Order: sequence, then C-alpha cells, then structure tokens
Amino acid sequence: MQVIEREKLLNRIDDLKQAHGTTRSALMPILQNLQDEYGLISGLMMQEVAHALNIHPVEVEGVASFYSFLHPNIKKGKYVIRLCQTISCDLMGKSRVARQFENELGIQFGETTKDGLFTLEYTNCLGMCDQGPAVMVNDRLFARVTPEKVPQIIANCRRNFLKSDFPQIVPSDVQKSGPLLSNKLKHGDALKKALGMSRSDVIAIIREAGLKGRGGAGFPTAVKWQLAGAAVSDMKFVVCNADEGEPGTFKDRYLLHEQTDLMLAGMTIAAYAIGAEKGFIYLRGEYQYIREHLNQAIEKRKNSKLLGQSILGKKDFNFDIELRMGAGAYVCGEETALIESLEGQRGEPRNRPPFPVDTGFEGHPTIVNNVETFVDASLICAMGAKWFMQHGTEKSTGTKLFSVSGDCERPGIFELPFGISVKELLKEVGGQDAKAVQIGGASGRCVPRSEFERAIAFEDVSSGGSIIVFGQDRDMLKVAKNFMEFFVEESCGQCTPCREGNVKLLEGLELLEKGECSSSYLNELIKLGHTIQIASKCGLGQSSPTAFLSIVEHFKNELLGRVQTA
Ligand code: FES
Repeated sequence: MQVIEREKLLNRIDDLKQAHGTTRSALMPILQNLQDEYGLISGLMMQEVAHALNIHPVEVEGVASFYSFLHPNIKKGKYVIRLCQTISCDLMGKSRVARQFENELGIQFGETTKDGLFTLEYTNCLGMCDQGPAVMVNDRLFARVTPEKVPQIIANCRRNFLKSDFPQIVPSDVQKSGPLLSNKLKHGDALKKALGMSRSDVIAIIREAGLKGRGGAGFPTAVKWQLAGAAVSDMKFVVCNADEGEPGTFKDRYLLHEQTDLMLAGMTIAAYAIGAEKGFIYLRGEYQYIREHLNQAIEKRKNSKLLGQSILGKKDFNFDIELRMGAGAYVCGEETALIESLEGQRGEPRNRPPFPVDTGFEGHPTIVNNVETFVDASLICAMGAKWFMQHGTEKSTGTKLFSVSGDCERPGIFELPFGISVKELLKEVGGQDAKAVQIGGASGRCVPRSEFERAIAFEDVSSGGSIIVFGQDRDMLKVAKNFMEFFVEESCGQCTPCREGNVKLLEGLELLEKGECSSSYLNELIKLGHTIQIASKCGLGQSSPTAFLSIVEHFKNELLGRVQTA
C-alpha cells in the first residue's frame, strides 16, 4: 500500500473513531466499514486499527477471522454471491441453482472469477426460508431463485444495476394475523401508556401477562427486567437481539420492517423499567438492507421525543438506541455471545453465572430480548395484561408468530395462539400430508406424524417460531445431514463436545448414507448425541444434536434401510 493510501487509511480510521468511539466495542463497526470501502481487511488495516483502539493486532485478527462476513487478507469479488444451503432452501432446489451459477461463471463455490468480479459462496439461512432458494448478492436479497433467473442476476451485476434500481425483495407473506399483527396502535401510544405507570408497575404488568421470551427459551421477561432493575450500577443496557439465524425463521425480519415502532417502543419501555440510558439493536448481517429503515425509524422517534433526552417530557428519563451489525455468526444469537460481539470480541459464549442481568455489556447489567418479545411488551403496556392473556395457555400466554416453510401450500408468517397442536397448525398452512415437522429450527426437534397431537407451547414442544414441513417423499437422512452440516459450520469451536462431537455425528450420517453404518454404531452415535447435549458449554452445543436424535428416534428404520447386508 502506498504512503498516500496509508494516510488516507489513517484519516478514515480517525473518522470511524469519531463515529463509533475509541473503546474496544468500536472494533466491529470499524472493520465492517473498512471492508465495505476497501473490499478486504488487509494486514496493515488490522495493525492500524489495533493501534487506534490500543489493542494487540493479533486480537484484531482473531475477531476478523471469526465472522463469516469478514474476510481478513482475502480480496473477494466485487459481487459476492451467497447461496443459502440451509434446509428450507435445500428442499426448494438450491443444488440446481448452485450448478447454474457455476456454469454461468465458470468457477466453483468458494472461488472468485479471474476478472475479480464475482465470488461464489454458500451461506447459512438468509431468513428467506418461505421464498427459497434465496441468494444474497452483497447486501441485496433475491427470493425464489431458479436456474432460469441466474443469468439475469449476473447480467444485472455486470451492468451495475444492484446499487440502483434492481428491485429489492418484499417482506414475507403474512398468511394469518392475530392480535399482534392486526394491532391499530399509533406512533407513541404504547410508550405514553407505559410512562404513565411507575417503573415497578411496568414490570408488574409484564409479569401479570406471563410474557416469556419469544426466542425459544421462554425465560420470563419480567424476571429478567426485575433482576436488571434491582442491580446496582451507574450504567445499564437494553439489547434487542435481531440476530434471528435459526434455520427456518424469518418473522423478525417482518417485524423489523412492519412493526418497527412497537419494537423500538418495547426497548424504550424496558429501559424505563430497568433504568437504562443506552440500547443496542444487534441486527444480523444478512438483514443489512433493513439498516437504513431502522436508522430512519430511530431518527423519527428522536424527533418525536420518543427517544433521546427527557423522553415525553420526563426529565429523568433519557434513552438512545444504536444499531450494530452482526457479521454472519449464528452463535451470536446466544445472548452472551451477542454481548461479546457488541464488545468487539469473537462471538464466543461466556460461562454463566454471572448472567447478563448482572454482568452484561462492558460489565454492566444488561437485558437481551428478541424482537417479538419487545413488540409483545409494548402491546401489553398499551392494551393490558388481560387482553394479552386472552390467547394461549396458562403457561404460555399470548400468541406466537410462526415462520412456516417447506412442503406446504401456504408458506409464510402465521400468528397463532400458543397451545395449538401440530395437527391444527398443519391444517392452517396446508401441510396435512406431512411426514414430519421440524419445530424450532435446526436446534429444535423433528416431530413425526404419530405425535401431531402435541401442543406447540413452552410446556410441550417449544419453538422460537421456525416450522419446517417435510412431505412424504423427503429423505430424513438428508434432512439430518443438512442440520449437522449447519452445526459443524456454526459451532464457535470453544468446547470440545460441540466442536468435535458434531463432526462425528456428521461423519456417522455420511456412513449411513453410504450404507456403511451398523445399527450398533448408530447406537454409539446416539450416546454421543446425548453427551454433546449434556457436556456442551452453551445453548448452541446443547441443542445441536436434538434434530439428529429425534430423527434417529422416529425414522431409525428409514436411516438403517441403507445399511449393506453383505
Ligand atoms: Fe434458506 Fe432460510 S433462507 S433456509
């Protein structure tokens, strides 16, 4: 790099420090900006960023090499074409699309064209599962891509149409609305109601409503808020986990688009309840195109005194929200990994305790809730606990948004009450003939036909909202293999059971595919799966064998049908 370029780089890093600060937490946005502008993160850049933030260059490289959307020392094509390889897109014919891209460009996946224009890569779920196969070209998403559409996508890149007028995808189809999606609240309504209550009354109404986190784990929201509120600290933080990366999930993308105000209001209400002055939205890198919309919504709320200083005239209530981008790491959906990432670290989960409500972002009490939870919190404050509790079960109150994909007549978003049976849900989506349903994404369980009477609720089959329907002709071995490939790729590698165990499970599935896995070896794999569940450090590892184990449990004969008898 020439001297003049180096000076430009240093000036640019100075600008980025002005925008994002000089603490370690500025690292990710600075690297993301430099990569966007220069096309790569060079060794010199990492050294200069390290110097600017007063950290060791090895630490910068460690972070840059952790995230799949960052590429230190690798110059990729002007257009990085990422094809989703995850299950719903796989079911919809991603392999044919992949071959077409390779034929058109004369390269394989993982390669860049000689003219430096295109790089082909596989990626995991892009949050377009109802409209697969999905492709992301730089920050643009393309839905329902067929081999026939591939030449057009490439031609549009060559004509540089991507940045200007090539149509962006539309939000997913809402197939069924309920009280959440059909709410008629106006800008500011929910927050006004909440600020009319005391801080403790806000937590009390959330408790009364029985709201549980919509990310899947179902932790009571009021308990989280209560603990963070009671923690003593001069700083507290509210984080919106907008990193939905669970295969088959895309409903938060819709909420971020269409219920933005209620989501931002929910964060502000949480800040009021716990006494926080700063919030972050951690938006997954795959949703880059929503960034502008969110920033505009934040600005609008500031102008309306719904964010910023003395919110709605309350002198002692100040709260601001900053948008931070993820960079393609599924594990960052885990709240402590997300906090690490916000701090400019590798997204590796922390040991718990201490919990984030006590020791979160930069050591301060922090609550992390997902998008849908914040929307629900707003609605509860505006409409009351009883209104919310009209739907659902005693232990799982309210409605739930489901992202439905796979072999059904009506893929899309459904708002349905908790407690609905799998059978009833399949009737809604037009999937009555299903052979099995994956509930809760790759980390969830595969429910066979014989269990379709089970209820989707925290007390029975829990789900963050991903529903993937498998028709009668689907090969369940291929399904299990796709899930294991996902976890092998997304494991952060910190703990041995997850890092090594999932590789072994995948190898076992490959043996099954070749007909070279005996029944007794399959039993060993089942034991290994249970060990991974017990011994892994975080939720990712603990849930990674669930799909494998449930598929083996219910479809063992189908899987072993390939074993050679000779
Ligand atoms: Fe491909 Fe979700 S977008 S599986």
